[in-house]
Amino acid sequence: MTTDNKQRTTKRAGKVPRIGATRSDNGKNDAGDPEESVFLDTTLRPSQWNDYIGQKNIKDNLRILLTAATERNHPPEHILFYGPPGLGKTTLAYLIAKELQAQMKVTSGPAIEKVGDLASVLTNLAAGDILFIDEIHRLNKSIEEVLYPAMETGTLDIIIGKGPSARVIQLDLPPFTLLAATTRPALLSAPLRSRFSGGVFKLEFYSEPEIQQIIKRSAKILGIDIGQEAAAEIAKRSRFTPRTANYLLKRCRDYAQVNKRPLDRKTVDEALALLGVDILGLTPSDRSILQAIVSKYNGGPVGLNTIAASLSEEEATIEEYNEPYLIQIGMLERTPRGRQATKRTYAHLNLENPKVEQEKLL
Ligand code: ADE
Repeated sequence: MTTDNKQRTTKRAGKVPRIGATRSDNGKNDAGDPEESVFLDTTLRPSQWNDYIGQKNIKDNLRILLTAATERNHPPEHILFYGPPGLGKTTLAYLIAKELQAQMKVTSGPAIEKVGDLASVLTNLAAGDILFIDEIHRLNKSIEEVLYPAMETGTLDIIIGKGPSARVIQLDLPPFTLLAATTRPALLSAPLRSRFSGGVFKLEFYSEPEIQQIIKRSAKILGIDIGQEAAAEIAKRSRFTPRTANYLLKRCRDYAQVNKRPLDRKTVDEALALLGVDILGLTPSDRSILQAIVSKYNGGPVGLNTIAASLSEEEATIEEYNEPYLIQIGMLERTPRGRQATKRTYAHLNLENPKVEQEKLL
């Protein structure tokens, strides 16, 4: 596949364009939700800052950064967004491009396989363009090294030929802004991280009221009639994550439609029970991780690789998708010796905690 095929280009200003799904290797989108939902997400993606709910601190910082850069008539410096999947990193990139009325070229770490792919992307940029690299942690090291001078001094060093006759050609790039997103900031090398001189921003989980607001906005866009109690229940089970909230909303809408029922609390309970999403928003895969730690490894600590192997699951999927939420709600602890269940895990799974039982006997 050529680099051109791997890029998606947005038009200057105007409406925020549709983008295709950023597919991960396991055939799900990076929220672990089925691919189909990503396409509708595009309709639901806020295209104005006012519609982007939450992440107030990031928005406040971006406002200053973008205003200052615009006043100086210069592209903003490079920015990195990180945090669990589905929290709106890509959406922020589109909002920034729109605000700057800039053309945005979209690519991803795994799509840039060779130095030549990156060189082609960079040399096709125009002055003031934004380059968005999703999953930047998946860029390989030799490609990262080409990115450093491009980010720092706007130059591209290309090596022509091999051996003693090899020559380095230095190309001047037009001024551009790199926006990058990652779910795994720890996998970025320190030199790469330090070159995001515009800022490194961590997206936080949303509050329940914020998720309720997002659900109501999405319901309005999709023409779904949903009661307050039903919206609140979906919000409660949405892992504090907009993408999951939208996914659950759409699945509940389907259930109501097929069963010719109103989208009320009872419908939500039934639809989510059918999906295996429990009262805390845990999915069957979350529960099997917790169950494995508790029943196979006596509550832990147990290594991530062992858990992954015992469930035939990818370590990265567990680490990027399941763990952040489980840790956030106190169902899992990451210790230097491995992953560990908590009292809350046992209570939620309705299991006796052997460690507590033992303490009682002492
Ligand atoms: N969809 C995804 N993220 C969102 C946000 N922060 N606000 C509104 N809708 C969203």
